Amino acid sequence: VDHSKFYARARTLLVGAIATAAVVVAADQAFAQGPKMTPGERAVKYRQAVYTVLAGNFGPVNAMATGKAPMNAAELTKRSERVAQIAKFLDEAFPPESNGVGNTDAKPEIWTNNAEFQKQLTALVEKSDALAAAAKTGDAAKIKSAAEETAGTCKSCHEKFMKD
Ligand code: HEC
Repeated sequence: VDHSKFYARARTLLVGAIATAAVVVAADQAFAQGPKMTPGERAVKYRQAVYTVLAGNFGPVNAMATGKAPMNAAELTKRSERVAQIAKFLDEAFPPESNGVGNTDAKPEIWTNNAEFQKQLTALVEKSDALAAAAKTGDAAKIKSAAEETAGTCKSCHEKFMKD
């Protein structure tokens, strides 16, 4: 029996296991974004990230729909479908423990007048679904009005529920 081969193999396995464990720990810490962050602070970061991605996709859609950027049907469809998808992430982004924590711009009225907030959130979901459907028709007039209606839901909710 060649023991040196056995030890070499055992060492390789052990090094591999340690490396895997290190990656798992690192991933866990990255997921938690540091041990010092509270669940409320994490929720604020999460929703601000969701809004950033939402705006990053809605901006180009709105520019094409209103003639400020050249129309690209494939791009319009792809991005408006993303907007409709991302809008649906927001209903889980406002847990009560995120009220007033971190660097949030969310007003306390979101929780004290939650029925109205939910109405505004539903409006975004419905209007962005309609925008994604309009994008597929290729009808410029329909696309323009659906984009305006979606933008209207952003504005309306920000006026009521976001600090300026
Ligand atoms: C139902 C209410 C509501 C709707 C609809 C809404 N927003 Fe917001 N938005 C908020 C609130 C509240 C905040 C503040 C979040 C925070 O700081 O905790 C915010 C923050 C943002 C931010 C800043 C994110 C950051 O990094 O701080 C952007 C950008 C944004 N919204 C874009 C949009 C766009 C674009 C739309 C429409 C397509 C939209 N929002 C629709 C409520 C809404």
